[in-house]
Order: sequence, then C-alpha cells, then structure tokens
Amino acid sequence: STSSSVRRAKRQHRRDLYLMYLQDCIICMDQLSNPSGYETPSTEEGGQSIQPDTVGKFIKCGHTLHMLCMLAMYNNGTKCIKLYNLTSVTLCPCHQGPEHPNPGQPYTCRGFPRFCFLPDNDKGRKVLELLKVAWMRRLIFTVGTSSTTGEPDTVVWNGIHHKTEMMSNLSGHGYPDPNYLDNVLSELASQGVTEDCLKPP
Ligand code: APR
Ligand code: ZN
Repeated sequence: STSSSVRRAKRQHRRDLYLMYLQDCIICMDQLSNPSGYETPSTEEGGQSIQPDTVGKFIKCGHTLHMLCMLAMYNNGTKCIKLYNLTSVTLCPCHQGPEHPNPGQPYTCRGFPRFCFLPDNDKGRKVLELLKVAWMRRLIFTVGTSSTTGEPDTVVWNGIHHKTEMMSNLSGHGYPDPNYLDNVLSELASQGVTEDCLKPP
C-alpha cells in the first residue's frame, strides 16, 4: 500500500542519513557527525538556514561535506572566482577548477599532511604570518605535474619554497640554508604577499 511504501522510503532515508554521518567532510576532514567549525552567516546567501550540522553530498562523485564548510570555502575565493563559484556550486572540489591545467578532471593528493619548519625568531615568525596570508589566498599549492615524481594532475607546491626537513637535508629542502628566509620572502613578494598585507586596513 501507499503508507507502507512511504514507511519504507522513510526507513531508507534514515539509513542513508546514518551512513552519511559516518563519512568525513572533504573540507575540514572531520566526521560529519561532528558539526562544522564554521559559524552560520547571519545575513545574505540564505545563510540562516544552513546549520553547523547541515551536510551535503555530491551526486556525481559521492563526496560528502558540511554545507557551512563549503560556504566558507567559496566565500574565501577571490572576487573573480566568485562568478565561477556561483555557477558551479555543485561541482565537488575533487575536480580541478578553472585555474588548474585540466579543469573538470580529477586530481590526486600525495604526501599529506606535509610538515614544514621555520626558525623561531622574528624573521621566521614574520615568514609564518606571510605564509598564512598566502595560504588564505590559495597560493601555497596548485594542481599540476609533480617535478619530483612526474605524476600529472596532482597537488604540488606552487613556487613558494617550504622547508620540509629540519635536522637533515636529504631532499634539498632542509636546513642549513642561510638564504632561505630572504628567498622565501622574495617568492612571497613575487606573488603579492608582502609585509603590507600584515598591517590592519
Ligand atoms: N619540500 C619542499 N619543497 C619541495 C619539495 C620538498 N620535499 N620537493 C619539491 N619542492 C619544491 C620544488 O623545489 C619546486 O619549487 O616544490 C616545487 C614544486 O615541486 P614538485 O616536485 O612539482 O612539487 P611536489 O610534487 O608537491 O613535491 C613533492 O614535496 O613535501 C614533499 O612529500 C612531498 O616529497 C614530496 C615533494
Ligand atoms: Zn567540514
């Protein structure tokens, strides 16, 4: 009868939701059963209706995420990326964006988390703050062909060198390297990240 098929559909829906909450958010990497760490925006963009426990799933790839994490990611984009965001909000970030070499294609992600080391002195701490600005501007990584492994369509460093070894230098990206802080400062500057970015507006 109709009512038993409705009951069956509701049961299925509860099962789907339960399985969904066992998945992780592809943005914050936390379990969906934990709420998003981002705040519900107060005004525009229908933000009111998105709660920290609101979750979503991409139909095509099946990836899951907190809707507030997705909103935070899109709000982070620069103004020129905004237009793209609005028109393709249903495209999972498991695919390359328009700024990548093969838009719409999937990409891999190797060797994460990557840990990097800076000296704990004034200059090192300043570099850390500038690296955070570069991170927020999405300048630290890109998608491309790794020159280390030759793998195409993978996440790679984006021209701002990081020291991934502290007590050794097997990779050539360790210490000692007396020019490192000056070099990374000029790499940051060449991508528009300078001390001016640290001053309050
Ligand atoms: N640490 C820091 N920077 C690196 C490293 C490394 N181990 N290897 C390469 N780079 C720099 C390169 O000098 C270049 O400027 O990153 C830029 C891009 O190099 P790719 O080899 O294309 O980048 P990626 O594939 O991301 O590097 C792979 O980095 O953190 C490690 O685990 C990672 O060993 C892997 C290597
Ligand atoms: Zn999340």
